[in-house]
Amino acid sequence: MERFIVRAGEPLHGTVRAGGAKNSALKLMAACLLAEGRHVLAGVPRIVDVEIMSEVLDAIGLTVTRLADRPDGGPGDLVVDTPAALVPEAPYELVEKMRASVVVLGPLLTRAGRARVSLPGGDDFGSRPIDIHLHGLGMLGASFDMVHGNIEGRVPGGAGARLVGQRVVFEYPSHTATDNVVMAAVLAKGTTVLENAAREPEVADLCAFLGAMGARIRGAGTSRIEIEGVEELHPAPGPHRVIPDRVVTATLIAAVGLAGGEVVVEDGRADHMDMVLRKMGDIGLEITQGPDGLRAAASGRLHSVDVATLPYPGVATDYKPFLVTMLSVADGIGIVTENLFQGRFRYVDELRRMGADIRTEGHHAVVRGVRRLSGAPVRASDLRAGAALVLAGLVAEGETVVSGGAHIDRGYEDLAATLRSLGADVRRAGP
Ligand code: EPU
Repeated sequence: MERFIVRAGEPLHGTVRAGGAKNSALKLMAACLLAEGRHVLAGVPRIVDVEIMSEVLDAIGLTVTRLADRPDGGPGDLVVDTPAALVPEAPYELVEKMRASVVVLGPLLTRAGRARVSLPGGDDFGSRPIDIHLHGLGMLGASFDMVHGNIEGRVPGGAGARLVGQRVVFEYPSHTATDNVVMAAVLAKGTTVLENAAREPEVADLCAFLGAMGARIRGAGTSRIEIEGVEELHPAPGPHRVIPDRVVTATLIAAVGLAGGEVVVEDGRADHMDMVLRKMGDIGLEITQGPDGLRAAASGRLHSVDVATLPYPGVATDYKPFLVTMLSVADGIGIVTENLFQGRFRYVDELRRMGADIRTEGHHAVVRGVRRLSGAPVRASDLRAGAALVLAGLVAEGETVVSGGAHIDRGYEDLAATLRSLGADVRRAGP
């Protein structure tokens, strides 16, 4: 069992990189399904979820190759070769490991006219339906059946039939449903207008990549995306660089909030993180965007604030475990409200075992700050919760052992080494 072993130590100092965004890279990889030929993605993080998506693409008939690391230690480019004919199926063994695999549904339907995708599993929080995806793709003309745990989708009209552009209104700005419908619409006949679309920077990155492949998209990054379908796409002419990971950036900034010190996240982008940076400022961090990157500094005790998660540009649900961890040692009482996912408070029980004073009721948590946590064996229930427990160890007396470390590897290249490079006492032990 992978474990992270953490001890509180000195304030953190140094310069790090967040690396490419997981939730962009996975969709860019899926977008490679849309055009035959060789695609090159730069800055794709070396994380487990990328390996799983590579296996999904491999099952569909693509070849994914990782080039050697760059001289500066950064990840080598990811080269994706897409054949003319696809096997439009994403098998259970893979989809079960990663819910994001569902983003192959839109590209497969529009490119191959049919798709069989297992129902997604993924993080262990809440019920995570895909009705919005199916509604959007259905509006473009796809029809779906549920057969033996698989979603079987097809474009009526037989071989060569295309989806048809439509006005699609989402009942909720779902991030991956937006990805799916945009990727389906780029090869549909006519124009699709997607209202109440997700506005995440990763959606805008996907649209930029699709644009370089010949797609005609307006309004990316806003809640109204207009897609004029084209007959065919081609690989982007040059490598596409993935935007930096804002959740990894927030993790590193939260580490500074907890341990104190001053750190620069070289590739951090404040313009992708307005609300969470404002919250972190209210909590007591000093954060500035300079020419050398995003600089975060903290000294003394943090202050409590209230936080509510909302779709982008609100405070993302992914940041919440880091904010709750900071509030657990801040001065005062903070009320945290989860508006997106049910059951995303599971790590709170683990923080309590470390001495945090947190009461949860429905989708609210009341966090009364204590001066210091106390190291304990704790378990990561999902990716961000796991990272937050590692951070909690930075302000806990004694040793904190976070088991379930494999969750953390799904989205962080090497969290222990990154934190160590800033002076933290974090190591991993495992099989
Ligand atoms: N929802 C539905 N029906 C749908 C789709 C979503 O009811 O068809 C609900 C969900 O159950 C949830 C809410 O809508 O309550 C938000 O879901 P959304 O679809 O926006 O999230 P997602 O696309 O499944 C992505 C990220 C998440 C991130 C959210 C919010 C990927 C692969 N995942 O999930 O990231 O929390 O957007 O920004 O892009 C992570 O990185 O660990 C992660 C979970």
